[in-house]
Amino acid sequence: MSDDSLWLSTMAAVPEAQQQRRRRRGRRSVAVARPFRVDFNDIDRRQGSGNLSRRRQPLARALGAKTRTIFDATAGWGRDAALAALMGFDVLAAERCAVVSAMLTDGLVRAEANPSLSLALGGRLSFKHGDACEILAAADGDGTPPPDAILIDPMWSSANGFGKARRKVATALPRASLQLLSTLLLAPSSSTPAVQTLESRGGANGDGGEASSANDATRTLIDAALRSEGVHRVVLKKPRAAPPLEPPPNARQLDVVETNLVRFDVLVPL
Ligand SMILES: C[S@@+](CC[C@H](N)C(=O)[O-])C[C@H]1O[C@@H](n2cnc3c(N)ncnc32)[C@H](O)[C@@H]1O
Repeated sequence: MSDDSLWLSTMAAVPEAQQQRRRRRGRRSVAVARPFRVDFNDIDRRQGSGNLSRRRQPLARALGAKTRTIFDATAGWGRDAALAALMGFDVLAAERCAVVSAMLTDGLVRAEANPSLSLALGGRLSFKHGDACEILAAADGDGTPPPDAILIDPMWSSANGFGKARRKVATALPRASLQLLSTLLLAPSSSTPAVQTLESRGGANGDGGEASSANDATRTLIDAALRSEGVHRVVLKKPRAAPPLEPPPNARQLDVVETNLVRFDVLVPL
């Protein structure tokens, strides 16, 4: 690359067997498609009734009109965090994967060097490397003012199937960047199991298509968020086709915001 940005090759996101299949079918391999870096400059910044409209943007509706400060417990590539900051929320986002975290920092440094983007972000976006549960616990202990809302967007996988819903999730799935993220997080050197599976009470194939919820790691995160002193709402983002969340006993479901592909479950701690 000709600049100093941290780039990752999307080649890493595509298993060799899949690449061979694509080549056999005469399709251009994702492996040579393009390198990837965190870039907040490509987020649509139209105001008014555009992408940054807090009345229309599903993320903002889920976070709530009274929310000012957000803790994004699952930063990933920082898209939701940056979008929220551009809409005027104050955002601290946690990411536990060191590579992803370094790329977020790199993306933020470049964003701040871009005058118009930096102005639009208004210093409202920051990232912290670490486990969100630990960061929340430390903040509770040291008197850091709590965020108004906590956003949780774990990696979801349809690997164990969930019946009729499966097709929808498959089509919602990965742009190269998401595929790259899940490959990174599943790498043997990754210290943390990061991809949650969608369980179904309807059995291994989920034929009942009934309510199901995230696995233990996600439950732990939701629980830590709900127990955080002073937090008004916890927003869980997931593929729309994933089975609905059953609210934990220490929370009440306030709202659900849905788009074609995504569903936000809004929980209020009891
Ligand atoms: C689906 S991605 C989030 C995508 C993000 N919302 C975006 O807009 O780019 C989930 C990310 O959360 C991170 N993650 C999962 N559990 C975490 C935890 N307990 N603490 C910090 N990061 C976590 C994973 O490493 C992964 O990068």
